[in-house]
Amino acid sequence: MYLGIDLGTSGVKITAIDKNGEITASSSREYPVHYSNNGWSDQNPSDWIKGITDSMKELSEKININDIKGIGISGQMHGLVILGEDKEVLYPVILWNDQRTVEESEFLNNEIGMDKLTEYTSNISFTGFTASKLLWLKKNEPEVFSKIRHIMLPKDYIGYILTGKFYTDVSDASGTLFFDVKNRKWSDEMVKILEIKKEYLPEIFESYEIAGELKQEIMDELGITVKIPVAAGGGDNACGAIGAGVVEEDKILVSLGTSGVVFIPQKKWSLPEKSSMHTFCDSSGKYHFMGVILSAASCLKWWIEDIHDGNYAKMLDEAEQSPIGSNNLFFLPYLTGERTPHSDPYARGSFIGLAAAHTRGDMTRAVMEGIVFALYDSYNLADGLNPDTIRIIGGGAKSELSRKILTDVFNIKSEVLAIQEGPSYGAALLALFGTENEKNMDEKLKEIVKITDIIEPDLENHKEYQKRYEVYIRLYKALKNEFFEISRL
Ligand code: XUL
Repeated sequence: MYLGIDLGTSGVKITAIDKNGEITASSSREYPVHYSNNGWSDQNPSDWIKGITDSMKELSEKININDIKGIGISGQMHGLVILGEDKEVLYPVILWNDQRTVEESEFLNNEIGMDKLTEYTSNISFTGFTASKLLWLKKNEPEVFSKIRHIMLPKDYIGYILTGKFYTDVSDASGTLFFDVKNRKWSDEMVKILEIKKEYLPEIFESYEIAGELKQEIMDELGITVKIPVAAGGGDNACGAIGAGVVEEDKILVSLGTSGVVFIPQKKWSLPEKSSMHTFCDSSGKYHFMGVILSAASCLKWWIEDIHDGNYAKMLDEAEQSPIGSNNLFFLPYLTGERTPHSDPYARGSFIGLAAAHTRGDMTRAVMEGIVFALYDSYNLADGLNPDTIRIIGGGAKSELSRKILTDVFNIKSEVLAIQEGPSYGAALLALFGTENEKNMDEKLKEIVKITDIIEPDLENHKEYQKRYEVYIRLYKALKNEFFEISRL
C-alpha cells in the first residue's frame, strides 16, 4: 500500500492506494487560512502538522499501517517556509495567493527585468511566487530574514518532518522563481539577486525519486517495523496531472479548486508566446505550461456558502434553469486578485449587467461561467496547442453543469475520471512508481487512470459562449483602472 499526502490550502487529504492504483482508504482534515483585507494570506505550519496527525490517526483505523510501502507528498505551491538555526519556523507561511509583495514583484520584473528572469528561470515574477516573498521579508522583517538557515516550500516542510531531510522536487521548485526550470537546478543568478545562500536551499529530486525514508522516531510512534521510502512528490497541480494521467500533449488538465488551473503538458522545454503563462517542470520528467486564476471553485464556495445558506444542490439546480450566458449576466471571478493572464493584485470580483429580472439561478450560473471564461483567457495565451481532451479535477469537477460549461467554452471534449482525488492520488502514484522503480510511467498511467464518461462539445453552444467571451475579456480592460482606484480609497 502507498500513501499520498496532499497539503492543500484549505486542508490536508491522505489517500491510500494498492499496487494497481486502486484507492483503499482516505481521510482528510481542514485547517484555517488567515486572510486579511489588504490581500495578505498566511498559515501556521503547526496547523498543518495537527491536520496531518489527526488525518493519519483516522486513516490508521482503516488500514494496516505495516502494509505501507511508500509515501509521496504533494502540496500547495509557492508558499515560503523559513526555518532558523534550530530548525524552528521563523514566520507564518506567506501563501501562493498572498498579495503583499506587489512592490517586490515589480522590482524583479522591472529592475532585474523580465528578459533576465526568463533567461534564469523560464518565468517572470508574480506576487504569489516565492522570490518576491523573500525580498518582502528582507525589507519588512530584516531580523527574521537574517535568521534564515533553511528555505523550503510547504510540502517540503512536511517532508522534513517525516524524514528529517531537506529536499524538494523539480515541479514545486519551478514556482519559486529561483529555480532554473530548463536545466532542472537552482539558479545561481537568482540566489545572488535574492542575497540568500545556496546552502539554505533543499536538495533537488525528480518527483518520482525516493528522497528519504520515514524517521525512526515516527516509525516507533506509529508502531511501524519496516523502513518506508518517501518519494520527493510534487506541487499540487503537477501531482494532480499524474493522478489524472495528463502527461502528454494530447491532453490538458483543468483544476477547479481554490485556485483554477490550466495545465498544458510539454514534451520539451520551450517558452509560451506570452510570459504570464508559467513554464514549469512536471512530475513525469518533462515540462508544462500553466495558467492560474487565484479564485475558481472558491468563488462558488463564497457565493453558495458565505452569501447564501450553503445549499449546493438547490442552487446548482437553479443555475441549471438559467440559459447559456445567464440571461446576459457576467461575473469576473477575481475575488483575491488575478494572476494569469492579467497579473493584477488589485482586480476584484464583479457582477456586470444585473437587471431587475435576474434570478439567483442566473447569478449562480454567471459565477460558474465567469470561472470558465477566466480559465479560457489563460489557455488562450499559448499558441499552437492542439489537445483533443480535457481532464478535470478539484471540487468544481463534481458539478455536471461546470463540466458541460467547460467543454463547450473550450470546444474540446472532456473526460470524467473514475478517481477524482486529484493531487493526493497523484502523490500516492509517485510513491508507487518511485518505490517500484517504474521505468515507463506514461504507459503505466494509461493502464491505471480510468474514465467513466466523455462529454462532447456542442458547436452551437461554443459559438454562443464565444460571443460572450469576447465581451468578458473587454470587461476587465474597462474596469482595470477602476479596480486600482478602489484599492486606493
Ligand atoms: C499554482 C498555484 C496554485 C496553488 C494552490 O501556481 O499557485 O494552484 O498551488 O494550491
